[in-house]
Amino acid sequence: MNGEKNQIDEIYKELVNRAVTAMKESYAPYSKCNVGAALLAKDGRIYTGCNVENASFSATCCAERTAFFKAVSEGCRDFDAVAVVGGYGGEVKEFFPPCGVCRQVMTEFCGSDFKIILTEGREIKVFLLAELMPLSFCVDKVLKGK
Ligand code: THU
Repeated sequence: MNGEKNQIDEIYKELVNRAVTAMKESYAPYSKCNVGAALLAKDGRIYTGCNVENASFSATCCAERTAFFKAVSEGCRDFDAVAVVGGYGGEVKEFFPPCGVCRQVMTEFCGSDFKIILTEGREIKVFLLAELMPLSFCVDKVLKGK
């Protein structure tokens, strides 16, 4: 039982490390806010992403969506967890919760037990998608009656 918990903790640490590495590729000349994400698929693969900004600000893509779109475009749609780190100038000092658009994208592909792993550099906190996205708008609302 304890061995299983330790193994899960190790997976979370690995995801955080991969998110920190991904953050180094962040292209954020406007906000100077660097973000990295590491998405764990159910088959064990990890997809990473960083935020990619644009002079036309609304064309910016967040780190989490970069990771999700990489995964989905490579045929992967089943996920367990995502780690997200970020901060001004790439310094991870505070928890960096995913924005609403990224939570909506997570809702499209993930169940309520999908885990969102956040850290301020020392402590690791694990949230469920259900907690961060209550009363979500999802596929069954759109496809009802079809
Ligand atoms: N950003 C992310 O990458 N993920 C989020 O969940 C929130 C915001 C990025 C977008 C933009 O490049 C910068 O952080 C400031 O908003």
